[in-house]
Amino acid sequence: MLSPAGCARPYVPVFGAGGPLSASRAQPAGRRYARRLRLEKASILAATAALTVGASTKTSPRGVGSTRSSSAVAMGGIFGQASVPDYFAGKVVWITGASGGFGEALAKRLAQDAKLKGLILSARRQDALERVKESCLKLASGELKVQVLPLDLAEIATLPEAAATAKSFFGEVGILINNGGIGFRGLGEETEIEIDQMVMNVDYFSGVVLTKSLLPDWLRRGEGHVVQVSSVQGFFGLPGRTAYAAAKHAAIGFYDSLRAEVADRGVSVTTICPGYIATGHSENAAKGEGVKYPEGHTSKGVLPEVLAPEVLKGIAQKRPEMVPAALDARLARQLRNCCPHLLFCIMRRRAQREARQRAAHQLTDKKSE
Ligand SMILES: NC(=O)c1ccc[n+]([C@@H]2O[C@H](COP(=O)([O-])OP(=O)(O)OC[C@H]3O[C@@H](n4cnc5c(N)ncnc54)[C@H](OP(=O)(O)O)[C@@H]3O)[C@@H](O)[C@H]2O)c1
Repeated sequence: MLSPAGCARPYVPVFGAGGPLSASRAQPAGRRYARRLRLEKASILAATAALTVGASTKTSPRGVGSTRSSSAVAMGGIFGQASVPDYFAGKVVWITGASGGFGEALAKRLAQDAKLKGLILSARRQDALERVKESCLKLASGELKVQVLPLDLAEIATLPEAAATAKSFFGEVGILINNGGIGFRGLGEETEIEIDQMVMNVDYFSGVVLTKSLLPDWLRRGEGHVVQVSSVQGFFGLPGRTAYAAAKHAAIGFYDSLRAEVADRGVSVTTICPGYIATGHSENAAKGEGVKYPEGHTSKGVLPEVLAPEVLKGIAQKRPEMVPAALDARLARQLRNCCPHLLFCIMRRRAQREARQRAAHQLTDKKSE
C-alpha cells in the first residue's frame, strides 16, 4: 500500500481534487479500497511512462531534464520550424527583468544570435540595465540598437505609459518577454496581504497590463508574440511559497485562455515554466514577516546561459508551453493531475521538514545572541 511517511492518518488514495470518496457507498469497504488502489497504481504507471518519454530528450550540462514536455515531443511536427536567427530577424523584442539572472541571459543570447530591429531592456535598476546593454552591444555580430527602459513592475498604474514609451523607441514592439519577477519565501499565515498583492502585481498583473497594452496593435497587424515566464510552481504549490505559487498559477491560466482567443489572428502566446535556474532568485525573494526560511534551492538549478538558447529556440518555434525542469518537478506536475492526494502528502511531509529546519535555525540564532 502507498503510505507516504508524514501523513498522520493512514493514507487512502483518492482521485480528483473534490475530496474523499463517500464512505456511505454500497460497495463493501474492502472491494472499494482494492479498486482505488488499482486505479492509483495505473495512474502512477501512466504518469511515469509519460515522464520517461519526456526524460528521454536532451539534458543540459547542469542536469536539467527535457526542455519539452512529453506531449510536446509527441506533437513535435505541429510546431513551427523557424530558427532563432530567422524568427527574430528584423523584430523588436522587449524583455522585462533584463537587469540580471535569466532575463540578462536571454538578452545577451539574442544579441549574439539574431539581427534584431531593436532590443528594449527593462527592470528597476538602471545601472544594471546599462551594464547588460553594453554586454549586448559587444556580443552583437552586426549593428544592434538597444534601449534601456527602467520601470517598476509593482507599480501597475505606470505600466501602460511604459508600454507607450517602449513602442515609441522603434515604432512597435513585436515580441514581449514578460520575464521580470520576484520569488517569495514565508508562511501564508505570517504574510501580510500587502506582500501577497505585491508578488501578484510583479509576477502576474504586470505581464497582463503590458500584454494588453500591446495587443490591440498586434491584432491590427495580425502579428505579435507574448512570452510569459511562469514556473513549474504554476502547476503545483510548494509549502512556503503561497504568494508565488498563486501568481504563477494565475499566469498559466491567463495565457492559456488568451492563446485560444488570439491563435487565429496571428498572435502567438508562449508560457515558459522552468524548474530551478541558478540565479539570485532565492536571495532576491520577498520574505513573509518574521520568517527565517531555509536557504533557497536555485543554486541547484540549470545555468541561465544554458537555458536561454533552448528557450529562444522554443519561442522561435512558437511553442505554446515549455517546461524546462528536472524530473522530480515534472513528476510532481503529473502527480498533481493524476493522484493529487499523493502529492499533497509529499508536500505535507516537506512542510514538516522545513518547519523543523526553521526551528533549528531559530535555536541557533538564540544561542548566538
Ligand atoms: N530562478 C529560478 O529558479 C526560477 C524558476 C522558475 C521561474 N523563474 C522565473 O524566472 C524569471 C526570472 O527570474 P530570475 O531567476 O532571473 O531571478 P532574478 O535573478 O532575481 O531576476 C529577476 C529580474 O526581475 C526584475 N524585477 C524584480 N522585481 C521587479 C520589479 N518590481 N520591477 C521590475 N523588475 C523587477 C529584477 O530586476 P531589478 O531588481 O533591477 O528590478 C531582475 O532583472 C522570474 O519570473 C522568475 O519567477 C525563476
